[in-house]
Amino acid sequence: MKKILITGGCGFIGSHLAEKLQHDAEVLVLDNLRTGRLRNLDGIRARCIRGSILDRALLRETLRGVRHVYHLAAMISVPESVGDPRGCVELNVNGLLNVLEESAAAGVEKLFFASSAAIYGDNPAVPKVETMLPEPRSPYAITKLDGEYYCRQFAADGRLDTVALRFFNVFGPRQDPKSAYAAAVPVFMQKALAGEPLVIYGDGGQTRDFIHVHDLAAACIHVMNTPGLTGVLNAGYGGQLTVLDLARRIIALAGSRSEIHHAPPRPGDVRHSRADTGALRATGFVPQTGLAAGLASTLDSFKAQTAAPAQP
Ligand SMILES: NC(=O)c1ccc[n+]([C@@H]2O[C@H](COP(=O)([O-])OP(=O)(O)OC[C@H]3O[C@@H](n4cnc5c(N)ncnc54)[C@H](O)[C@@H]3O)[C@@H](O)[C@H]2O)c1
Repeated sequence: MKKILITGGCGFIGSHLAEKLQHDAEVLVLDNLRTGRLRNLDGIRARCIRGSILDRALLRETLRGVRHVYHLAAMISVPESVGDPRGCVELNVNGLLNVLEESAAAGVEKLFFASSAAIYGDNPAVPKVETMLPEPRSPYAITKLDGEYYCRQFAADGRLDTVALRFFNVFGPRQDPKSAYAAAVPVFMQKALAGEPLVIYGDGGQTRDFIHVHDLAAACIHVMNTPGLTGVLNAGYGGQLTVLDLARRIIALAGSRSEIHHAPPRPGDVRHSRADTGALRATGFVPQTGLAAGLASTLDSFKAQTAAPAQP
């Protein structure tokens, strides 16, 4: 059976990848639980090694016999990266270089890199096309762009096949609403279910291209398993929803009486974000879940979680 390593596999997206990959592969996860949780892997056939991508000896040991690497471990928060740019470079650039170098040395066939729509920054043009000039506005976005370039370099030098997706706004079950830098969908759902106010940073007119994590994980596996596919592609639905509309939709779906409040805009936040999905679709990828069904099923999973007794 093919052996696959997911760095950051105890996280939100990584755990969904592990869930999908477990049926056809032996799945290893390397995660230091910086933001991830062991319980995200509950019921999933994956072996979790608790440790950091900054530990090269551990990486070398873990990569023995691995054919595919999905590299998701990262500092994931734009505001955290603004406050700690050096920490962000250490984890997102030096950490990636460790994974690339050790993967090449171990004879890994292909590496997937989780990049981000944040690399487009405030370039006002929408949709965002892969060939557009990146204008990263935060240390987080700069490190993701660096990561893309290093992946390309390793592929160009014949050291390792690589492919990257620029994730737009991913949502779905297991996304943490409690972290200091939580994303809008889980926070809005938790607040709507509790009947508490939903807080929007800025006027709410900023737009995002939300993609359900089942479709996103399927896209990651699709680009890895497509022979000869390399480079960088967008991963979104190509939709454009204002954050205000998102809040209203979630309140309506939850049948909630929550109010919407506004707070000052956050540093580094971009105004508009929508993917041109032509390149990914041209590879034969078709999303199966979609926005409306994805929001409804995600809300159901948050409801079930709220009803269940608290877990450690
Ligand atoms: N969620 C989104 O909308 C989104 C959008 C764009 C890009 N991404 C990228 O997708 C990837 C996964 O994001 P996520 O939303 O699942 O976040 P997450 O925080 O749930 O997952 C990241 C995982 O990496 C782990 N990690 C952090 N530092 C580590 C280290 N030194 N060694 C090993 N593991 C470490 C964390 O513990 C966590 O489990 C990240 O690279 C992120 O930048 C996410």
